[in-house]
Amino acid sequence: MKPTILIVDDEPGVRSALSGVLRDEGYSVEAVSSGEDCLDRMTRGTVDLIVLDVWLPGMDGLATLARLRERQVDAQVVLISGHGNIESAVRAIKLGAFDFVEKPLSLEKTVLVVRNALRQRRLEAENRALRARVDRTQTMVGESYAMRQLREQVAMAAPTNGRVLIYGENGTGKELVARTIHALSRRRHAAFVEVNCAAIPEELIESELFGHVRGSFTGAVSDRRGKFEMADGGTIFLDEIGDMSLKTQAKVLRVLQEQTLEAVGGTTRITVDARVVAATNKDLQAEIRAGHFREDLYFRLNVIPIFVPPLRERAEDIPLLADHFMAEFAREYGKRVKTFDPGALAIIQQYPWPGNVRELRNVIERLMIMVPGDSTSSADLSFLDHTPLVRFHVEEALAAHLSLHDARDRFERDLILRTLTEQQGNMSRTAEVLGVERSNLYRKMRTFGLTPSRRPETEEEEGEVRT
Ligand SMILES: Nc1ncnc2c1ncn2[C@@H]1O[C@H](COP(=O)(O)OP(=O)(O)OP(=O)(O)O)[C@@H](O)[C@H]1O
Ligand SMILES: [Mg+2]
Repeated sequence: MKPTILIVDDEPGVRSALSGVLRDEGYSVEAVSSGEDCLDRMTRGTVDLIVLDVWLPGMDGLATLARLRERQVDAQVVLISGHGNIESAVRAIKLGAFDFVEKPLSLEKTVLVVRNALRQRRLEAENRALRARVDRTQTMVGESYAMRQLREQVAMAAPTNGRVLIYGENGTGKELVARTIHALSRRRHAAFVEVNCAAIPEELIESELFGHVRGSFTGAVSDRRGKFEMADGGTIFLDEIGDMSLKTQAKVLRVLQEQTLEAVGGTTRITVDARVVAATNKDLQAEIRAGHFREDLYFRLNVIPIFVPPLRERAEDIPLLADHFMAEFAREYGKRVKTFDPGALAIIQQYPWPGNVRELRNVIERLMIMVPGDSTSSADLSFLDHTPLVRFHVEEALAAHLSLHDARDRFERDLILRTLTEQQGNMSRTAEVLGVERSNLYRKMRTFGLTPSRRPETEEEEGEVRT
């Protein structure tokens, strides 16, 4: 995308000359004639850089700059100062301007300063994104019973050398579990090497896993180390293991049995010590019955099975995860975190999240980019498909052999959430519609692991309930 530049100068000649030369440089350029117009323009979307004249009728350039900073406008600013007016230029820099150019304007010099200013802005953004990625502590967020159990299992499995097989639907956090196991193991200083068995073409997977010798097949122009060898002393993560072909399964099995491997086209076997952690979203037992997966490999891999539950079964973790991702994206985009109003909170807790944590994370990133204010409402989430929201059916209860008690709980939970959404998260109205005491509603929601709301008024309400 073209960088956008806003020129603020009261002289029409300066505006048109600068606009022309900056447009020729490939920027998208707008121009206004006063500080007031500049502030007004900034309420209607972001620009990358503002070229701001110090001498303006009405609000001058420095006052405008101060206002922009108060409003957290993060555009880069270049000042145009009168000749010899070093004092105001210094003040401008203190207010966070990138640089200044003196009048009479040299267009060449201005273009250079603009280019540098935009480059610095881009570098800062990249830097922030990188730092956010590095900082992103790979912690497993969640306080639900299921999550606490999962963390416990991970902590127990990690220090052993035992092979781990991680099960879970798409996006539940299987890779995060694998990385956490590695990070908590004695192998943490060696490599964690990931192999996506579903993404690598069948004819390349052996070379990918075991390496190849130059000339062993067309395209093998040099020797190459395989992933098993790279993971020597560390952990190899075989992701989507259910998608590995039977032929490759046989080779992997041999590596696991003998702890040695042979590169494609190689003549010697080398010894490797890589801990295998595998993951799948398939039912491997069914794959075995269907003849798609080797039972002997399954037994080798499945020493420590770990099951990562779908997000809809740990709804109380949803607000925690949402806050976690919100903070992460705020850092990455250099913006403030947005809160969820009660209606929005009800929706995200009630939505079934077929894509699990990954889908939630994507939705939060989308909100960070698309929602202008500091708070997110149910309207901002209208893109989520609400049709599967009420998921309770007699058939479902029958199929799952639910007890009357569990079936009733599920129905009550869905009905409360649905009503809450309809009432935009208002607890009093929800209680009224459902014909229960508000205190009763709070108690029910807590037993279902639902978070009523974090709005101050409702906290007061909750206070009333307690007394
Ligand atoms: N409990 C959690 N706490 C914090 N972040 C999480 C948690 N679970 C998953 N994530 C994040 O959600 C995203 C998806 O997780 P991950 O890639 O581990 O899932 P997966 O099960 O491997 O998904 P897929 O099936 O799509 O490969 C990642 O960004 C991950 O960091
Ligand atoms: Mg994965």
